[in-house]
Amino acid sequence: MSIPENPLLSNLPSPCFVLAEELLQQNLAIFERLQQSAPIEVMLALKGFALFPCFPWLRSGLGGASASSLWEARLAAEEFGKEVHVYAPTYRPDDLPAIIPLASHITFNSLGQWHRYGELLRNTTVKAGLRINPEYSPVQTDLYNPCVPGSRLGVQAAMLEGNLPLGITGFLSHNLCESDHLALAKTLGQIEKLFGQYLPQIEWLNLGGGHLLTSQGYDVDYAIAVIREFHQRHPHLRLLMEPGSAIAWRTGFLISTVEDLIETPEFTHAMLDVSFTAHMPDCLEMPYRPEVRGARVPTTGDRVYRLGGSSCLAGDFLGDYAFDQPLQVGDRLIFEDMMHYTMVKTTTFNGVHHPAIGCLRRSGEFELWRTFGYEDYRNRLG
Ligand SMILES: Cc1ncc(COP(=O)(O)O)c(C=O)c1O
Repeated sequence: MSIPENPLLSNLPSPCFVLAEELLQQNLAIFERLQQSAPIEVMLALKGFALFPCFPWLRSGLGGASASSLWEARLAAEEFGKEVHVYAPTYRPDDLPAIIPLASHITFNSLGQWHRYGELLRNTTVKAGLRINPEYSPVQTDLYNPCVPGSRLGVQAAMLEGNLPLGITGFLSHNLCESDHLALAKTLGQIEKLFGQYLPQIEWLNLGGGHLLTSQGYDVDYAIAVIREFHQRHPHLRLLMEPGSAIAWRTGFLISTVEDLIETPEFTHAMLDVSFTAHMPDCLEMPYRPEVRGARVPTTGDRVYRLGGSSCLAGDFLGDYAFDQPLQVGDRLIFEDMMHYTMVKTTTFNGVHHPAIGCLRRSGEFELWRTFGYEDYRNRLG
């Protein structure tokens, strides 16, 4: 059935991103267990999930937030509180003086940026770090692989030439994406192999994001064990990680409405009030096929639906889906797992309606948190 069975769902505004409070808290519990059982602290990566009205639920269970720009650093400081870890591939000269009062840690992507701006951190409480490139990533899609040959992200071991610049207190290694416990173990081994000689000289090691602890196949106990063993070998190191996806993994959906049906000899276009390029860009960039509640992969004899986005980009569609009942104009479709890397990436391309944002509270009530109007579109442009 394409129509949600829960009557509450059919009354939600459309389109709308809907966070489920209970699911977010279930994910948080996994990170709390990790931190209680292993010497590691977890920061929320705002680049993946920045829905700040729910930060009060996350704050007590996490060590802080990580930011990749001045604006994310400001959001982290103002809305999350606690530690603010900042890393950006480049800092503009104007940004750093504004970031410094907000940050606990600032990580530089290159030796050049460190040499140009490191001086600004002198006589502050901010801890300076260097992003290292461990030259290992299990990620198959180049778009999401920070360790492709010739990557611009992070300092390779050979670039250090045996010398850690004075003033660098820690390393950030981000080389994973939706990865498992084995990839974590391999990353730790690779860091020891390539950067082991520098580990006695630093105070903290941030293992970045991409640790998908909240997914079904992730062996959290295995991760706890490898982190503990690593820490036994380097007991002076403060260990951190900064996942985004894993915290918001499977915690909510994007609800949309079928606005039109266009028949072709091969399939039916179900024209929606959401756009893949504007609201779910990873579906086209990664690319991946999102799960739609009640839909399946078509088999012989099925009526095949292609889900059409609301922009005029020719490729703004996803295929192919089948439903038990023929779709009707006005039906609701629910795109599952649409909390991470969606709301932070949306655009108003084509002036399409921006989905509202709301929350299904533990009580079962729906709270509408934000709606968007013409002014939101217009004010970005002039
Ligand atoms: C430096 C850094 N830290 C953390 C993250 C968060 O990764 P994820 O959302 O996959 O956990 C990213 C993602 O690109 C990143 O580049």
